Amino acid sequence: MTAPIIRTVSGLRAMTDAWRRAGETIGAVPTMGALHDGHLSLVQAAKNACDRVIVTIFVNPRQFNSPEDYANYPRTEHDDAEKLERFAVDAIFVPDGDQMYPAGFATTVSVAGLTDVLCGAHRPGHFDGVATVVTKLLLQTACDKAFFGEKDWQQLQVVRRLVADLNLPCEIVGCPTIREMDGLAMSSRNLLLSDRARARAAALHEAMEEVAEGLRAGRTMAELRLKAEARLEAAGFTSVDYLDLRAHDDLSALERPERPARLLAAAWLAGVRLIDNIGV
Ligand code: PAF
Repeated sequence: MTAPIIRTVSGLRAMTDAWRRAGETIGAVPTMGALHDGHLSLVQAAKNACDRVIVTIFVNPRQFNSPEDYANYPRTEHDDAEKLERFAVDAIFVPDGDQMYPAGFATTVSVAGLTDVLCGAHRPGHFDGVATVVTKLLLQTACDKAFFGEKDWQQLQVVRRLVADLNLPCEIVGCPTIREMDGLAMSSRNLLLSDRARARAAALHEAMEEVAEGLRAGRTMAELRLKAEARLEAAGFTSVDYLDLRAHDDLSALERPERPARLLAAAWLAGVRLIDNIGV
């Protein structure tokens, strides 16, 4: 069943008001499109948990660090709508830039602390863009629950923080990372990899699994990091932004997994920045 594509906030509000009046619960799946099985697993989780499901597709200019990266981001609205057909979602919200950021728009949502490290340190302003658009999407969809992939672990913690701090009446549901057969975490950015780069990309996950194994055996990040970076370099990665062990919730730095921890990495392969994380 083809879901209605809604392009205006007022059109969306008319739908959500009617659903709310009927006592129905609403689940939102915020995306930037180029949907893959990772996104579709979020849609399935939303379908299982809520009466109505809205998938949002908006390539948010405010979370990109370079105009080139924004311009190159894959845009596949027609294919995305087709992929969503089998889920019978209730609406696909595809606002344009003027709907999201009309003339005079002047508000930024900024989450301190959590955004100073990892991707926040390497992509200045990125999480302000994410926090601002996610706040808007949660309010626009009037959702009871919103579904985010654990692949963007830092983003998930930032969203949880802003929802708690702003008392937004919405539950944030984190869903496991979905991987390709060779272990590469699914990401819309994988579409930007050449065939040659794609064949090497799983080295990121492999190197991380090796570090995780070393940590479980009692070794420290200081002992393991250099070898993992050398392995990535040998696989063709040009640089590693970070390979860090962090507390799973407040993202404070750890040398060993002495509390629930996450190993997180961002590295560049053939001009594409790949990120991944695993629990340790
Ligand atoms: O994870 C993403 O696709 C984006 O960062 C999000 C949450 C849709 C905000 O633009």
